[in-house]
Amino acid sequence: MTDHELMIRDAREADAESWRRLWDLYIEFYHAKIPGEVTDSTWRRILDPVSPVFAIVAERGASLLGFAVCVLHEATWTTTPVCYLEDLFVAPEARGAGAGRALITALMNRARAAGWSRVYWHTQEGNTVARNLYDEFARADDFVRYRLSPS
Ligand SMILES: CC(C)(COP(=O)(O)OP(=O)(O)OC[C@H]1O[C@@H](n2cnc3c(N)ncnc32)[C@H](O)[C@@H]1OP(=O)(O)O)[C@@H](O)C(=O)NCCC(=O)NCCS
Repeated sequence: MTDHELMIRDAREADAESWRRLWDLYIEFYHAKIPGEVTDSTWRRILDPVSPVFAIVAERGASLLGFAVCVLHEATWTTTPVCYLEDLFVAPEARGAGAGRALITALMNRARAAGWSRVYWHTQEGNTVARNLYDEFARADDFVRYRLSPS
């Protein structure tokens, strides 16, 4: 670990390669398979200011350590946007040094500044590492998730 300060900032074009490396590890963590063209599209949407998808990254020195990818959307119970934190990941070698906490804190600061009404996310019940972190911010509620693929 270097003595460079941890920085949280918006993702930018030059992050493409580093983000992709982290993204592939994240997908592997979930034992998932995401087609390359979907990942390409996700990255394009992250960079597109018109898209509701955006990402912030954690950086130390010249290294990208992690990311939070979010989708901002409308909601029926509020008039201001709600932010869904869809993907959160910190590189294995950088874990335990506060990057995950800093990403969520930065997101909450942005939500406050922008007047969003809520930030929310899901995690697997047994993901205790992530849940230890999340429990610092909020108490998990009792909703369960239903998912259907139409095809
Ligand atoms: C979850 C994750 C993002 C946390 O990132 P991180 O940078 O390591 O987290 P931080 O260093 O900010 O840790 C903050 C807290 O998380 C918890 N935590 C972190 N690493 C932990 C570990 N190995 N075991 C148990 N709790 C841990 C602790 O409560 C810690 O607080 P502490 O430092 O005061 O003990 C990271 O572990 C990760 O990417 N995991 C794989 C992907 C994943 O699970 N993503 C979330 C999907 S919803």
